[in-house]
Amino acid sequence: MKIDLTGRVAVVTGASRGIGRAIAGALAAAGAGVVVNYRDNAAAAEATVAAISAAGGQAAAVQADVSQAEAADRLIKSALDRFGRLDILVNNAGITRDTLILRMKDADFDEVINTNLRGVFLCTRAALRPMGKQRGGRIINLASVIGLIGNAGQANYAAAKAGIIGFTRATAREMASRNITVNAVAPGFIETEMTDALGEATRKAILDTIPLGRFGRPEEVADLVCFLASDAAAYITGQTFTIDGGMVMT
Ligand code: NAI
Repeated sequence: MKIDLTGRVAVVTGASRGIGRAIAGALAAAGAGVVVNYRDNAAAAEATVAAISAAGGQAAAVQADVSQAEAADRLIKSALDRFGRLDILVNNAGITRDTLILRMKDADFDEVINTNLRGVFLCTRAALRPMGKQRGGRIINLASVIGLIGNAGQANYAAAKAGIIGFTRATAREMASRNITVNAVAPGFIETEMTDALGEATRKAILDTIPLGRFGRPEEVADLVCFLASDAAAYITGQTFTIDGGMVMT
């Protein structure tokens, strides 16, 4: 199946590196104009845009901290200003502040909830206005298998990712009559700078839990996101898709 997103416009949050960068590249390769959001690293975001342009795609880098309401509103508006419409929002931006719960500081909890969950709410709320007017849209939220099964040392992250799954279902029900679908993708262990930070012993322990015997690649998550953003996924909403080499089977 060839995915064709010609004429569509997408916003991908946290797209300067990792999974977000791969998603931005895949959406652009399928023909969408893409807003590459970043928080701090302008050079990395511009590199993502340059790679998309070099491959014949269209993209623009836009700075915004998704945990701030006014920034989220401005990010969504930038898609309308630059490309004239908004069809696809991928809520990808995320952080970790891993520590055991007895040692978890208020700030460790708040920062993760604010970026990973509040950011999804703020960007979604902003995007629903233009999508509602257009009577159609696709929202894809990056959850995690940790939001399904939990993980010691990640109570803040697990809470945010489980929250995303509930948020996805509620928003999907609310927006279905406007032809806006809302789905979540829950990756397992994907090779990015976020997971590079883990030690060798942790990586080995995780690998032992993956039936397919390897970690995932950002491009594999991007392919799933592209499918969910496409016409082929028109009858799918409110779902959470694990992409984890078989780590979690339900
Ligand atoms: P990453 O750390 O490589 O990239 C995350 C991006 O989000 C970075 O570009 C960062 O600058 C951006 N970001 C962080 N806070 C932001 C904010 N307030 N506003 C705007 N941008 C912000 O992480 P990775 O691995 O690419 O993860 C992407 C998403 O996938 C995250 O939501 C993560 O939780 C999720 N995920 C990743 C997994 C993995 O194994 N790498 C597994 C499961 C989920």
